[in-house]
Amino acid sequence: MPFPQSFLDELTARCDIVDVVGSYVHLTKKGANLFGLCPFHSEKTGSFSVSPDKQIYYCFGCKRGGGVVNFIMEEENLSFPDAVRFLAKRVNLEVPEEDGDREAGRRRQRLLDLNREAARFYYRMLQQPEGRAVQDYLDRRQIRKATAVNFGLGASLDRWDALITAMTRMGYTKAELLSAGLAVQNKNGGIYDKFRSRLMFPVIDVRGDVVAFGGRVLDKSEPKYMNSSETPVYSKRRELYALNLAKKSKRPNIILCEGNIDVVTLHQAGFDNAVASMGTALTQEQTRLLSRYTKELVLCYDNDNAGKVATERALQILNNSEFSVRVLQLPNRRMEDGTMGKQDADDFIKNFGPGAFERLLSGSENGVEFRLAQTAGKYDLTDDRQRLAYAEEVSALLAGLESPVERDIYTVRAAEAAKLTPEAMKLEVQRAFKRRLGREKRTQERRDLNPAAELQPRERAMHYTNVRSAMAEEGVIRLLLLDDSLFPPAPPLREEDFSSPLLGRVFSLLWEQRAQGGVPRLTALAAVLTGQEMSHITSVCQKPESAANRPQALADYIAVIRREAEKRAGAGADPLAAVTEKIREQKLNKQKHNDGGTQHG
Ligand code: UTP
Ligand code: MN
Repeated sequence: MPFPQSFLDELTARCDIVDVVGSYVHLTKKGANLFGLCPFHSEKTGSFSVSPDKQIYYCFGCKRGGGVVNFIMEEENLSFPDAVRFLAKRVNLEVPEEDGDREAGRRRQRLLDLNREAARFYYRMLQQPEGRAVQDYLDRRQIRKATAVNFGLGASLDRWDALITAMTRMGYTKAELLSAGLAVQNKNGGIYDKFRSRLMFPVIDVRGDVVAFGGRVLDKSEPKYMNSSETPVYSKRRELYALNLAKKSKRPNIILCEGNIDVVTLHQAGFDNAVASMGTALTQEQTRLLSRYTKELVLCYDNDNAGKVATERALQILNNSEFSVRVLQLPNRRMEDGTMGKQDADDFIKNFGPGAFERLLSGSENGVEFRLAQTAGKYDLTDDRQRLAYAEEVSALLAGLESPVERDIYTVRAAEAAKLTPEAMKLEVQRAFKRRLGREKRTQERRDLNPAAELQPRERAMHYTNVRSAMAEEGVIRLLLLDDSLFPPAPPLREEDFSSPLLGRVFSLLWEQRAQGGVPRLTALAAVLTGQEMSHITSVCQKPESAANRPQALADYIAVIRREAEKRAGAGADPLAAVTEKIREQKLNKQKHNDGGTQHG
């Protein structure tokens, strides 16, 4: 364990979860718990709960949860040790550092320093004769000097080792260059510059650190862009190009576009609120990051097919989110041969100027309008049969809207588009809405009828093979975390008695913590469990547990686990034993039913 147990105990005692979470999320009290809008997924009604008693948070929507350290890990994008340091700073507690951690922190900082030096190097090369080709390219794309400086654009040279030579001269090692993704190794073990003859875009995170690079070729060769690989300081799901600049914008929204060049051109034209997700679909992590800075997003993807697909996917992620989302549709461009061609934000600004873009921006449609137009585009609305098909498809879409007012407004719009009477369209939507409610009801009923499925962890890898035993195992973990006075003097179970490997491991970890004289807490588990595992354990803890006669409840759970474990051991050896056991169990169950034995939930 990287930090001494006593230090973690002190830290969690000082960092009350309500204070910490409360500085990120607006919480309101409801019964014993507090509720707010979940910061980890987009929602309109609060399903995010904080329990002051258990010192845990748990979201009933996205099922994420944990202790105070997990919260900071998720919210601030930090590793366990960094989250611990972050919290320690918050409450002025000195961190007993081990050499190993100090070393990891130092290595990270070295990578960030190296990235910064590399950015400086590329930037300098842009002014050199050797960087002339890149400068010419910038001129061709009409990117001005001040813009290039603002973005820290640079030039990688037409050489195999320009960066390696410069950086090793500054004291960085080849291993560090490889680890930062700035150099690549060939089969013979030699290393060479990853980026050559490219226009360099440094990717700068919201803290101002250079975490990665994108490099664009100057001609039509492939691949058009090369990007840094995932490194200890860079995860592409978690970054957005130019958010470091856009977060300071005075504009009320943030514009999401596809390309780095689009972003640069938009900023140059006065739209300093543009960012790009660098060739990947918008992720949940990126929307969380965005939610710190704005409540309104404008999607401005390319107007080709890929762009439309990307828009649709982004709308799905942002569906029901607290963001208001609008879609800015760039018009198609008539090409020289008369066909309609693709146009991205960069093309548009260059063809029509910032004023025209500003008009598009203020008139941009919301997500529903976009989807309606998309659907209308698929049908020939002068043909009766197709109008019918359109009405059917559109009514399914409208039935999915939560707000009755919204449903009403867009129903009328859709009717206009198909030249149907609003009444007819309304009937169609109502029918679709009823179908939807019916579907939802059936799903719920299926769930109610098959509670075993509900008891399973969300992640397949953690699925319980023996639900009965697992419920008792959960009970043991829950009770021990709830009330450490329940710990018997010696472990009543072995790890292998648990049918769920995860719960068994948690049980062992709790005993270890206990053996070290600490109070077993979720916090220390965060050091060794994955986020998903941690969320699952938190969901276990937040299930209700009767306060009455906890020692008896614990003993009951233990008995169930032992019996199931024996069954497993016996089943392999003697097939008859399993049958006998089954009969015995049925009897026991009946008996238990009759005297209403201890139950959770
Ligand atoms: P685009 O091809 O639209 O690039 O890809 P662009 O930046 O708009 O450049 P121009 O205007 O065509 O010259 C959009 C984004 O997708 C990522 C880059 O981040 C790019 O900016 N991408 C694209 C890659 O990562 N790899 C590629 O090979 C291509
Ligand atoms: Mn583009």
